[in-house]
Amino acid sequence: MKVEFYKHNIGEEEKRKALEVLDGIFLTTGKYVEEFEKTFSDYLGVEFAVGVSSCTAALHLALMHYGIGAGDEVITTPLTFIATANAILYSGAKLVFVDVEKETGLIDPEKVEAAVTKRTKAIIPVHLYGVMADMKRLRKVADKYGLKIIEDSAHCIEGERDGIRPGESGDAACFSFYATKNITSGEGGAITVHTKEEKDRLYKLRSHGMSREAYGRYESLYRHWDMETLGWKYNMNNIQAALLLNQIKNVEKYWKRREEICRRYESAFKDEKKIRLLTIPPHTKSARHLITILVDPQTRDEILAKLQKRDIGVAVNFRPIHLLTYYRQTYGYKIGAFPASEEIGGGTISLPLYPQLTDEEIEYVIKSVKEAIRK
Ligand SMILES: Cc1ncc(COP(=O)(O)O)c(C=O)c1O
Repeated sequence: MKVEFYKHNIGEEEKRKALEVLDGIFLTTGKYVEEFEKTFSDYLGVEFAVGVSSCTAALHLALMHYGIGAGDEVITTPLTFIATANAILYSGAKLVFVDVEKETGLIDPEKVEAAVTKRTKAIIPVHLYGVMADMKRLRKVADKYGLKIIEDSAHCIEGERDGIRPGESGDAACFSFYATKNITSGEGGAITVHTKEEKDRLYKLRSHGMSREAYGRYESLYRHWDMETLGWKYNMNNIQAALLLNQIKNVEKYWKRREEICRRYESAFKDEKKIRLLTIPPHTKSARHLITILVDPQTRDEILAKLQKRDIGVAVNFRPIHLLTYYRQTYGYKIGAFPASEEIGGGTISLPLYPQLTDEEIEYVIKSVKEAIRK
């Protein structure tokens, strides 16, 4: 049996919509993107969404939008994908890592507050694996010191914690529609904000700082456009938006099946002495983006190899960023700098998780994991 790590949800409806775009004249940012932005922000219950080319682009744009750059500091966690940290480096600000909570893998609000200096401008909490960081406490810290919160919500569309949803209490939130995300257009992203002024500014920033995007120019008679500010080329196109539109409508249906699968994994592994599962805090709905088990770091790579030998797709999310070569060489980080991130990053294994997984495949994964940790 072969169990893929991930399968996307692009079906007939998504293909039909994408063909509609291809049969039309307008491939780049246009009415499909507008429709997607509206559908997505309605689903989240956030005022405005802006479609961009990736979550990395969204994170960078958010930092640019808030004028964060050289001389500023931005706090985040090393237990995330490199995009979170790289976006801070693109901005020219100083990257400040703080460790995560050992039980949840989420950025520790106490450590965030301890890391705040006069130069701190923003916090980027990561809603790791689909579980939201403690936005209530982070918001208090941000308000006390006048900081922006930019949520890295690449893993979390469907989540909620303490009655708060992604994008709701952060100043901006950044989402990913990368190839393995809960909804996907291969590549893609979005950024949410609370006011029309911010949305309009992000429209400019995602398209080189031009006063009108191509669709605005196409829809009416030619008028000269101007470049009003320095922007980037980060716009989402109509093909991406067409692929996403129907997936958003089904997002809760997909989530329900992933929730069921996660519960099955969790009940199968909860009494295994060689496996630790991360805790989901109370009053929290996990978006269930990734299901990870933690094993002894000494045995992790061996277990990964055994599972792959059995044709089971696995991944590691994530080896902590501060120990990757570029970060070690450039910033001099050493082992032991962020012990909780290192423990989780050293032992983590992500298992297959997507709605199409069959019960038979799930049982095969469970059986294979149990055998792999025993030998
Ligand atoms: C936590 C996190 N942040 C950001 C990103 C970047 O997303 P994108 O590939 O859309 O740029 C990812 C991508 O996997 C991610 O996992």
